[in-house]
Amino acid sequence: MKILIIGSGGREHVIAWKAARSPKVDKMYCAPGNAGIAEYAECVNIGAMEFEKLAAFAKEKGIDLTIVGMDDPLVGGIVDVFETQGLRIFGPRKDAAILEGSKAFSKDLMKKYHIPTAAYENFTDPQKALACLETARFPIVLKADGLALGKGVLICQNLEEAREGVREIMLDKKFGQAGNQMVIEEFMTGREVSVLSFVDGKTIRIMTSAQDHKRAKDKDQGLNTGGMGTFSPSPFYTEEVDTFCKQYIYQQTVDAMAAEGRTFQGIIFFGLMLTEDGPKVLEYNARFGDPEAQVVLPRMKNDIIEVFEACIDGTLDRIDLQFEDNAAVCVVLASDGYPVSYEKGFPIHGLEHFKGSEDYFVFHAGTCFKNGEVVTNGGRVLGVTAKGKDLKEAREHAYQAVELVEFQNKYYRHDIGKAIDEV
Ligand code: AMP
Ligand code: GLY
Repeated sequence: MKILIIGSGGREHVIAWKAARSPKVDKMYCAPGNAGIAEYAECVNIGAMEFEKLAAFAKEKGIDLTIVGMDDPLVGGIVDVFETQGLRIFGPRKDAAILEGSKAFSKDLMKKYHIPTAAYENFTDPQKALACLETARFPIVLKADGLALGKGVLICQNLEEAREGVREIMLDKKFGQAGNQMVIEEFMTGREVSVLSFVDGKTIRIMTSAQDHKRAKDKDQGLNTGGMGTFSPSPFYTEEVDTFCKQYIYQQTVDAMAAEGRTFQGIIFFGLMLTEDGPKVLEYNARFGDPEAQVVLPRMKNDIIEVFEACIDGTLDRIDLQFEDNAAVCVVLASDGYPVSYEKGFPIHGLEHFKGSEDYFVFHAGTCFKNGEVVTNGGRVLGVTAKGKDLKEAREHAYQAVELVEFQNKYYRHDIGKAIDEV
């Protein structure tokens, strides 16, 4: 088979790495890709939002399956464009990707189908949103409705901050069109867990759990980022939690989408908060989490191409998903200054140490080639993932592996997976 992967981050690198292990794959392309993905795939200089160009490329090369890693093209309708032209593609259509594309939609869906989530109200009128704050309890959570690079959520401690937040989102349009509508919701406390799943429209298969560290600095200080590290499985995702989610959340979401005429085929990422009243949905995403994918996929035993095809063909009920009985930790190596401002273009040394290893890996997030050399090209530069028999060992291995790579302004958190010491 000929495969085309769309995206350029660590998530797309781990998808490419996993797809390369499938005996079904003969040739792989990635648009636009990065320096690490180039090891497995021919990188093509077409942007992820250039749907017509991508479709023309897929036709020209006779691509058998396209896999979309990122949220923007999914929410923008890339799957519909490909399908209309008779091209096979993995991911939800536009009318289903709205599960991630509109937080107001997903909140209304959960309410209608009794899926546990925080109490909320949606607003299209800023004056009404401001008025609602007058009687609110604090802290309170404000969310821009649309995609906002993971930055559209504000946790406000008092009325003053919340008023400012509504103004930023709805009047100043700090997150652009994403702020045409907003959600105001109850603040929840508890552990956060990420659960990824494959969905074929009817059947859902849950992957192993993971946990993300979103803040830039140690001890969860600093600004929110795309994710500074992950570990899998999460020890907080107990059998009890799993049973609850299987009873009230997972299949309910898939059935709700089908009942709404928005049949979902692809990945559903459940962002869960384990509250005192039980697990509740924080958010849905319509794609693999990044860096969650970097700890989940290396532990998956199945041929990923078979699973993608089963999602498209509606035969996921025949797939028995299996994960290794071990653990993985991913430490993100960023450019100092991320997520605000940082320099790029520094040579990266030591990548050769990872070649051929089955226990530790380096997935590229923001890298490119300059004069034949791999250089930094983003805020999140690399994800260093290591496996171990348990989380403690995986963490030790990951932090040893981090020392193998060097580049100027290398920055990372030292406490990825630390929370597991409390268990
Ligand atoms: P979201 O993009 O909706 O997952 O929000 C980003 C982050 O904001 C989450 O991972 C949580 O850490 C936090 N968050 C979102 N909603 C809530 C809430 N209702 N209560 C507390 N924290 C929240
Ligand atoms: N790591 C969180 C996300 O991918 O949205």
